[in-house]
Order: sequence, then structure tokens, then C-alpha cells
Amino acid sequence: MRRKMIRSGYSFSILLFEILFVFSLVLFYSCEKPAATSNLSEEKDFSVPPKGFPPIPFPKENPYSRAKFELGRRLFYEKLLVRDSSFKSCSHCLKQEYNFDNNIPNTLGYNRIAEFRTTMTLTNVAYYPRLFWDGRLEGAQIERVAYRSMFLPYIFGNDTNVINSRLTNHPIYPKLFRETFGENAKPSAWLAAQAIATFVRCLVSGNSAYDRYIRGDSNALTASQKRGMVLFFSERTNCSVCHSGFLFSDFKFHNTGNTLHYFDLGRFYVTGRYEDRYKFMTPSLRNVEVSAPYMHHGMFKTLEEVLESYNRGGFPSINKDSIVKPLNLNEQEKQDLINFLKSLTDWNFLRNPDFSEPKW
Ligand code: HEC
Repeated sequence: MRRKMIRSGYSFSILLFEILFVFSLVLFYSCEKPAATSNLSEEKDFSVPPKGFPPIPFPKENPYSRAKFELGRRLFYEKLLVRDSSFKSCSHCLKQEYNFDNNIPNTLGYNRIAEFRTTMTLTNVAYYPRLFWDGRLEGAQIERVAYRSMFLPYIFGNDTNVINSRLTNHPIYPKLFRETFGENAKPSAWLAAQAIATFVRCLVSGNSAYDRYIRGDSNALTASQKRGMVLFFSERTNCSVCHSGFLFSDFKFHNTGNTLHYFDLGRFYVTGRYEDRYKFMTPSLRNVEVSAPYMHHGMFKTLEEVLESYNRGGFPSINKDSIVKPLNLNEQEKQDLINFLKSLTDWNFLRNPDFSEPKW
């Protein structure tokens, strides 16, 4: 009898506790507005490119929406997509302060497996006609890259079923997926990839000193940067033959003779053509100041080293581009070119809190 009383007293207090707990949860989630907007600039349309840039090409199958951008931003910084805590998230290798790139030659993925080339930046990638140093993926198929990264053993090393259930059992994600993809949407790795791709397409950078200069602010560049610009676009250096267009890349493949030891066959792995051996896709030079180390192999730590290589006309190499020739630049000219490259840095973009890790 006594035991029964104790038991019923005990279960009453548990019941009371549970009621209070559920009540506090309801209170917590009803107050929890930040989940929807976090700390983003209100009203901002992230699909609008900087002045002078073409419209951001969002694919028909995955159009822009503000909700998708916000969800993608969270997921870009989300560690539950990675198999375990060995590293953080997409942002582990693609850091905003390094132009959504990183500062090491060989990135280590899951299980510390090393990438054999340097990471390529995500900035402005929406406009790219093809991806990766060897251009192995035609089109800016960012959804596909994001999805594959989740289960490739050397990147996130995860299993999409594990990701689906982690997202489904998360206290907030199911609601965010419904708000983004419709009432019946269930969180999944594939939808997560769509959202991440939308966030990534909005990482457009076009407000450097150089951009301000070409929009009419003649004081935006220093005298040295202006001299460097003239050199960059001159037939003497030919820099702008390959680093052309608004992203400073022709997105074609060249061998610039930047090493004596090419062991990576580059574009050849994609086409199998001998004339493509040791060729790599021209990288964009926007924000290049902060994205060292340089070249596919990451062997140059500074822009000075890059300039030294171009100035010597590269090393002799099979398939080296014939326009890469000794330049005979003096110290001042080299410095002017470097200063011009630095005028392509968009500090507002690199520090824009709308692209940084959201606070839950
Ligand atoms: C023949 C085409 C071509 C010309 C001309 C050319 N580049 Fe390049 N540039 C490339 C390619 C291709 C790469 C990547 C090469 C690699 O990884 O092996 C590159 C890489 C670079 C990088 C490193 C970027 C990074 O993120 O790793 C910088 C900086 C650079 N070039 C600046 C210049 C400058 C300055 C000039 C003129 C002096 C110039 N380039 C001339 C094609 C060219």
C-alpha cells in the first residue's frame, strides 16, 4: 500500500515535470524566431549581382529563394553533414577570409586523406562554364558537387541515409526544409545540396577597388596600381589574354611552365589527348591576394613568387603556351603588377557577415 502511494506520488511529480518540460519547449520554439532569419540583412535580395555583372545564372530546376539561401548558409556551416567530428563542414576547407578557399596546398578531407591539388575558390563559381583545375565537370553543377562531397570517402565520408536521419531528427531543420521546399518536403541530403548550391551561387564578389575604378571612381586605384593595370592588359605581358573577362579567366587550359616537375597531367586526365598534358584551367584572379598558396600544386606562397615565374617566362615544359615568354620586368614593374592584383580584392565581400557562419 505504502509502496503504491510512493509510486503514484512519484509518477505525479514526473507528470508535473513532463507538463512543465513540454510547456517550456513550446515556449522555447515559439520564441525561437531567429531560426527563420538568423542574423541576416533583412530584405536583401542575394540574387542581385554587383553593378556591371551579368545576372547570376540560377538553374531552372533550382531557382533562387531567400529561404533557400538561408537554409543553404546554415548547411554550409553545418557539421552534422560530416561523418564524425574529424572536421567541421564545407567551411572547413572553404573559408570566407581566404576567398572561400583555404591557405594550405593539400587540403585534408575525412580520415586526413589529402587532396592532391589546391582547393579552387567558390567565389563567383555560379558563372563558371566548367569546374575544377582540369575542368572535369562541364557547367556549374554545384548541386552535384555538394551532394557528392557528402558521401565521397575522402571529403565528408558520410552516408546519405545517415544525413537524412540526422536532419530529420534535428529540432529545427524539418521546419526549415518545409518552409523552403514546401509543406510535404522531408529533409534529405539531396535537398540540402540544392540549398547549399543556392547559397554558393550567391557568393558573388565584384566590389573591389578595380571595380570602383572602372565604374568611374578615378581615385579608387593608386598610381602604382594604374601602372600595373596597363602592364596587365598590355601585349608585353599578355596576362589578360588568359586572365580575361570580368572574372579574369578564359576558363581554358594552359601550361604556364610554373614548375620543373609536372607530375600531374591536368586536363589530359579528362580528354586523354597528349596535347592537353600538364594544362590547367586559368584561375580567376579576383581576391587572389588572400587565396595563397598559388597554382594547382600550391607551391608558390606569395604573389612575388608567381610574378618571378612569369618574369622568367616559365620553365621549359611540354605543351607550354607559346605566349608565356621572359618579360624582363624591373623591380618597380613587378611591384606595380602585384599592386594591381591586390586592387582586385573585395574586402566587403570577404568580411560580409551575410556570408559568414550564422548564429542559431
Ligand atoms: C597562357 C595563359 C596565361 C597567361 C599569359 C598568364 N596566366 Fe596566370 N595563370 C594561367 C593558368 C593556366 C594558371 C594556373 C596554372 C597552374 O596551376 O599550373 C595561372 C595562374 C595564375 C596565378 C595564380 C592564381 C591562383 O589562384 O593560384 C596568378 C596570380 C596569375 N596567374 C597571374 C598572372 C599574371 C600577373 C600574368 C601576366 C604576367 C599571367 N598570369 C599570365 C594562365 C595564364
